[in-house]
Parts: sequence; structure tokens; C-alpha cells
Amino acid sequence: MILTEPRILWRMLLGQPTRGGLAERLEGFYAPQADRYDATRESLLHGRRPLAALLEPKAGSVLVELGAGTGSLPDRLGERSRRCERIYLVDLCRPLLDVARRRVADRPNVTVVEADAAAFRPPAAVDTVVFSYSLSMMPDWHAALENAFTMLKPGGVISVTDFYVSRRVPPTGLERHGPLTRSFWPAWFDRDGVRLNPDVLPLLTRRFEPGTVLERLGSVPGLPFARVPYFVFLGRKPLPTRYLHPT
Ligand SMILES: C[S@@+](CC[C@H](N)C(=O)[O-])C[C@H]1O[C@@H](n2cnc3c(N)ncnc32)[C@H](O)[C@@H]1O
Repeated sequence: MILTEPRILWRMLLGQPTRGGLAERLEGFYAPQADRYDATRESLLHGRRPLAALLEPKAGSVLVELGAGTGSLPDRLGERSRRCERIYLVDLCRPLLDVARRRVADRPNVTVVEADAAAFRPPAAVDTVVFSYSLSMMPDWHAALENAFTMLKPGGVISVTDFYVSRRVPPTGLERHGPLTRSFWPAWFDRDGVRLNPDVLPLLTRRFEPGTVLERLGSVPGLPFARVPYFVFLGRKPLPTRYLHPT
């Protein structure tokens, strides 16, 4: 929860509505704070900066962000965003998409799409898929990740940043968080419809060829002594295995 602005604090205390479909619940949560989303998230969503720094889209490539919110990724990519032939910003929440549409109005290579991340189908296979603090808000995150896998070209790049906690016994090479961290942060974020999942990072490292994996702790506005874990993952969809037929 973000504890600095009374209007945002009130919305956060109420949490994400529990009735209605996903789009309705997201709208109920974000509509009252859509105009302040960008200002209030800068000091919380720390993984967005390293994620953008790691992305190097090729000239003429196609990039999809699933759960793009207010559409700040092209700004974060700066000049690199202009290399892309097309950037699709996909989200299910109308009030945030309205902000995104206004923001990218002068960017002819950016298309804003209202769709579920698990259902969106680009016209052809794409070069890069990004999830920035969105998988943790998707009840069917597994389907969204499979959809990303399907839409990527072989060798295509997937980049994910999110809050998370580790498994009690994480796979070799990944951080291990203590019991307090593993219980406090999932409970803290749950009311807002953000689910900190210990299985996302292990699955990413298995399903994709890992390139960069960063596991860090970030400050939370209003909680001066607390640090929430987040990760940044950059990997590739594996190339198809070639079978050598015996002669
Ligand atoms: C915390 S915001 C992150 C937005 C943006 N990526 C950023 O880094 O600022 C999470 C976003 O995921 C979106 N979202 C949640 N479930 C979704 C789904 N099933 N399909 C598409 N977007 C979804 C929400 O509407 C919200 O915009």
C-alpha cells in the first residue's frame, strides 16, 4: 500500500473490489487514482528502470507490453522505442488506458489495445514481450505467461519485473527469503489484488533461457524501515530443438 496521498491511501485501504469481472474490479480500483498513478508509483515500482535499461529492441522489431497500465514504457525506452516498427500496449483497465492513449498520441508506432493479457493475439509472432508489475495482478498469470510464450518468435525476448517472495526452498541460484518476508509482503499486497507468487521466477527460469536475473529489495513509501523484494528477469524463448535423424 502507498501511504503518502490521502485519496490513494483511502483507495488502497478499501482494496480492490471483490465483486464483478476482472475488468470491472480493475476499473473500481484504478479509476479514482488513474490521474495520480504515474506520480505515486515512481517511488514503489523500482524494477521498471532496470528492466527498461536492459531492453535493446532491434530496428523494425515488434514489442508487446501485457498489463501496460498508463503506457509509460515507450517513455522509459526513449529513443530505443522509435526503432520498433510497432509497440502494442495491452491492458484491461479503461481508466489507465485513457491515460496511455493521451500519452502516446504523438507516437505513430504505438498501438493501445484493450484486451486481457491471456487472450490478446498480435497479427504475427513478436520479438519482445514485457510484463512490468502486471503478472502479480493477473489472477490467471499462468495463462498470460503461456500466451506470451506462444506469441514470441523462437529466440524472442521476454522481460518481467515484479514484486515476489522466494519459495521456502528456492531452486539453486535464486535468493531465499526468511519466514517474515514470505508471510508479511503477500498479506500486505493481497488487499490490492497484488499476489506475490513464489513460483513465477522459478517458472520463468525453466520455461525461458535466462539471460539476466536480478533479485533486489526496494523501499516502500510510508514504510521507512521496510524493503519489499522484487526481481527483474530477461530471457529468451528457446530455439526449436533440431532432431538429427539416424542415417
Ligand atoms: C501495477 S499495474 C502496472 C502497469 C505498468 N505495467 C507499469 O509498470 O506501471 C498492473 C496492470 O496490470 C493490468 N492487468 C491486470 N490484469 C490484467 C489482465 N488480465 N490483462 C491485461 N491487463 C491486466 C492492470 O489493469 C494494471 O494496469
